[in-house]
Amino acid sequence: MTRIVALSGSRSADSTTRAALRVALGAAADAGAETDLIDLAAVDLPLYHPDEGTQGDSEALKRRVREADGVIAGTPVYRGSYSSTFKNFHDFCGSDEYANTAVGLLATAGGGSYGGTLEHLRSTFRNVHAWTVPHEVGIQGASSKVETGAAARGAGETDGRPRITDDDIRRRTERLGWVVLEHAERMR
Ligand SMILES: Cc1cc2nc3c(=O)[nH]c(=O)nc-3n(C[C@H](O)[C@H](O)[C@H](O)COP(=O)(O)O)c2cc1C
Repeated sequence: MTRIVALSGSRSADSTTRAALRVALGAAADAGAETDLIDLAAVDLPLYHPDEGTQGDSEALKRRVREADGVIAGTPVYRGSYSSTFKNFHDFCGSDEYANTAVGLLATAGGGSYGGTLEHLRSTFRNVHAWTVPHEVGIQGASSKVETGAAARGAGETDGRPRITDDDIRRRTERLGWVVLEHAERMR
């Protein structure tokens, strides 16, 4: 079975990023993928230190990425780029984790500007030899389009799925799950 892992780079309890990722993951699950969500708000991961070996959950998290055929990476837009939470996990992972992995990108913004964030994600995933898919999702004014709360916080990937109220964004987000799955299947 093709394994798709979503990676959420927000620490917010009511994260729109995590909720949108669960929509994408749900679409991939409906299309036959085995899915997993790494919620960086809920892990033990200290600030990366190059002189340390295993730090907190780092080895287990890296293994989950390494075993994935596809990754859907999501982050809030912070200062026009990705969050420090996302960057910290990025520093733990390299081509051992991402080579031959299809990666889809998603960014949520408070305002309207997510282009820089998606570009920074794309170039840094290229740096670790990931294959980023051309389809990507940016969500402007995310808090008014992505419903969070109990459903979004659920541990399961398919039950209690969060809702994206903007139909175009919902379709694009679901498509991200399908496109990553399609490319991941080709690359297996
Ligand atoms: C430190 C910080 C920096 C932010 N910088 C931007 C920004 O540059 N542009 C923007 O549109 N929104 C910015 N925002 C708003 C977030 O991108 C937006 O609220 C996002 O949807 C939060 O995602 P989350 O709900 O998953 O935490 C910023 C928020 C914070 C806390």
